[in-house]
Amino acid sequence: MPFVSRKNSQSIALKLVTREALQNQKKRSSEHDWLKTNGFEGKPGTTCFVPKQAQGQVRLFVGVKESKKLGDEIWDLAGLPKQLPKGRYHIENHFSPEKATKIATGWALGEYQFSKHKKYAKCEAELVWPANADRAEVNRLAGGITITRDLINLPANDLGPLELADAAKKMAKAYRASVTVIKGKELLNKNYPSVHAVGRASSRAPCLIDLQWGKRSSPKITLVGKGVCFDSGGLDIKPASGMLNMKKDMGGAAQVLGLAHMIMDAGLSIRLRVLIPAVENAISGDAFRPRDVLQTRKGITVEVGNTDAEGRLILSDALTEASKDKPEMIIDFATLTGAARVAVGTDLPALFCNNDKLAQTIIEFGLKNNDPVWRLPLWEGYKHLIESNVADLSSTGSTPFGGAITAALFLENFIEGDIPWAHIDLMAYNTRARPGRPEGGEAQAIRGLYAMLKAKFG
Ligand code: BES
Ligand code: MN
Ligand code: ZN
Repeated sequence: MPFVSRKNSQSIALKLVTREALQNQKKRSSEHDWLKTNGFEGKPGTTCFVPKQAQGQVRLFVGVKESKKLGDEIWDLAGLPKQLPKGRYHIENHFSPEKATKIATGWALGEYQFSKHKKYAKCEAELVWPANADRAEVNRLAGGITITRDLINLPANDLGPLELADAAKKMAKAYRASVTVIKGKELLNKNYPSVHAVGRASSRAPCLIDLQWGKRSSPKITLVGKGVCFDSGGLDIKPASGMLNMKKDMGGAAQVLGLAHMIMDAGLSIRLRVLIPAVENAISGDAFRPRDVLQTRKGITVEVGNTDAEGRLILSDALTEASKDKPEMIIDFATLTGAARVAVGTDLPALFCNNDKLAQTIIEFGLKNNDPVWRLPLWEGYKHLIESNVADLSSTGSTPFGGAITAALFLENFIEGDIPWAHIDLMAYNTRARPGRPEGGEAQAIRGLYAMLKAKFG
């Protein structure tokens, strides 16, 4: 537990300062001389211990960013838990509840380490709960994000489709949600032909995970997550470099489970449904092939352009089912295309949305919470790129150009009528370590979306 409730006589004060505030300080003190001698200028990410002064105590100065436009404070202290010596620390600054909650969340995440298969030194710095922090909210956010990261970081030999279903069941039990799992051949009887076609080559059976929670009378929100536990590319096999990180191809599923945790733990007034098509895109004599024509749950026939475009196929059946009970909103998360990463890079999830008002709200909450997304268009003019001569749709664009858009346009075919729908094409992975965000699985866009749902249904 990275927090304690009260100070003791030894606890060290953390003093958060910006470079600007330090420079503008008029009064000089021996403390400032010490900082100067040690070359501490308040640069974000730097720290400086100051020994006990005449009437004071040991203080640790922590440099933080001046501009707070992006709600940056969440990561202000996130580097410290792994860096500070054993001891008790408390924050000297006075912060608003919102800010205190963010800073404490960053501290909690600063301890994160995926340690299933390797033991790491424990973080031994404890933070006294900042006065105004909403402790339950901190635990909820850090808890959800930890679930997301852990699921992504689990190697594919530890996490196949049914293990992913187990994770959903475990969460459901904690919040008295219900889960049904349709698996293997049953997917055919229950009309999920695309999920089955993509997943059948693996010795680990594919499944459709369906979690439901909350009062039936509450507004319905449905989350859908791509759960490809490993993406070899299928018969259109990926090169080694492209396959290396494909344990993270269930990153969409991990986001929706992390977000579901936050929603259920907060008890939002929502009727929540989480749908996860879970498969391994493997290679065997039974694998689906390029130019196969697949049936979908909706009845739309799809010609397979490339077996590596598997995510959109399994999502098509899940989105059809999501549309069935006419929810207020459908949000899907998927590590869907390399093209989205080329377009906006690894840190910015691409947002596609059929509703301008919803898109604007998602963008605003993302920015406010340092959890940004960037909108790309559902450009109608590219619809011809996913036409097929032999089926209703082709699974791949006839050109790789605009690949994130053609993938999103493909999905749009499975959204019923005018249900507001947001599709988030994301990396779900830190390619480099930053304070509080080690290399590996990452929660993206769910803090912003949770804040949006809380504002509306809290
Ligand atoms: N899971 C990948 C997309 C991906 C790759 C996401 C790297 C993030 C990082 C997806 O299943 C895929 O392979 N997509 C293909 C589609 C193509 C064959 C139309 C791609 O993006 O190359
Ligand atoms: Mn693929
Ligand atoms: Zn994939």
